[in-house]
Amino acid sequence: VDTLKRVLPTAGSPIGVFDSGVGGLTVHRALRRALPKEKLLYLGDTARVPYGNKSKATVTRYSLEIGRFLESKGIKLLVVACNSASALALPALKRGLSVPVVGVIGPAVRAARSASRSGRIGVIGTEATLKSGAYQKALAHGSEPVRVRAAACPLFVPLVEEGWWEGAVPEGAARKYLGPMKSAGIDSLILGCTHYPLLKPLLKKVLGPRVNLIDCGTETARETASVLTEHGLARRSGKGSETFYVTDAAERFSRSARRFLRRQVLSARVVRFGA
Ligand code: DGL
Repeated sequence: VDTLKRVLPTAGSPIGVFDSGVGGLTVHRALRRALPKEKLLYLGDTARVPYGNKSKATVTRYSLEIGRFLESKGIKLLVVACNSASALALPALKRGLSVPVVGVIGPAVRAARSASRSGRIGVIGTEATLKSGAYQKALAHGSEPVRVRAAACPLFVPLVEEGWWEGAVPEGAARKYLGPMKSAGIDSLILGCTHYPLLKPLLKKVLGPRVNLIDCGTETARETASVLTEHGLARRSGKGSETFYVTDAAERFSRSARRFLRRQVLSARVVRFGA
C-alpha cells in the first residue's frame, strides 16, 4: 500500500544523502560541485554518531530508518555518504528501498584500481568499515590482482572534528597508522572515511607526494551522475537547493558544518527516530 501511495520520483525530485553525522558533508560538497542543478536532502544522524564502532545489525537498522525517512520525502536516489554504513548496510538498503542506492565503496575501489600502477593499494577507515572486509572484498574482485594493506584509524575522526588537521599529535598518529603501508610500498591509498579528505595535506606529508590519495566524495559524485543519467533522472535545468536534517544538536551541526563545507549551513531541522 505504501508503495502505491508513494509518488514516483522524477528528474525534479531531490537526491537523499546520509551520514552518521557531519562528516558526510565532504561527499555533499563533491555532489554539489558535480551536480549544481540538483536538490540535495542531507541527513546527519547526530544523535547516534559514531557508526564506526557499532555492529552490523545496529548500523543496518539505523540506515534503513533513515533511508525510509528520506524516501518519504520523495527522493529519487540515495547516496550513502558514510563509509561505515556503506560497508555494513548497503545490501540491506538496496533490498529495502525502492530508489537506486549509491554507496561510497564501489566508486572508491574502481578509482584506486585505475590509479594504481603497482597494484599495491592501502585502505584506511573506521574499525567497523575495516572489520567488515567490504573494501578488501571489493578490491579482490577485478581482472588484475592487487595487494591490499588495510588499517583502522580510530583517532582520525575525533582529531578532524577537533580541527586538529596538522601538528605533532595528528602527525604522530598518522605515522603510527600508516608506517607499515608506507614500508609495504603502496602507491594508492583509499581514504575510506568521510572525515579523512580533510587530512589530505598531512597524509601527503607522511606518505610522500607519489602516493595517490583516493577521495570517496569525488568518485561517488561521479557515480551518482552516471546512475541518474542511466535512469533518466538527471535534472537538466533549474537551480540546485539543499535541505539539512539532523537527529540532534542542530546548532552544533551547523557550527561544525562550516569546517566541512567551508561555508555556513544556515539551519538544520531536527527529526527523531525510534521515539
Ligand atoms: N561517517 C563515518 C564513516 O565514514 C565516520 C564517523 C563514524 O564513525 O560514524 O565511516
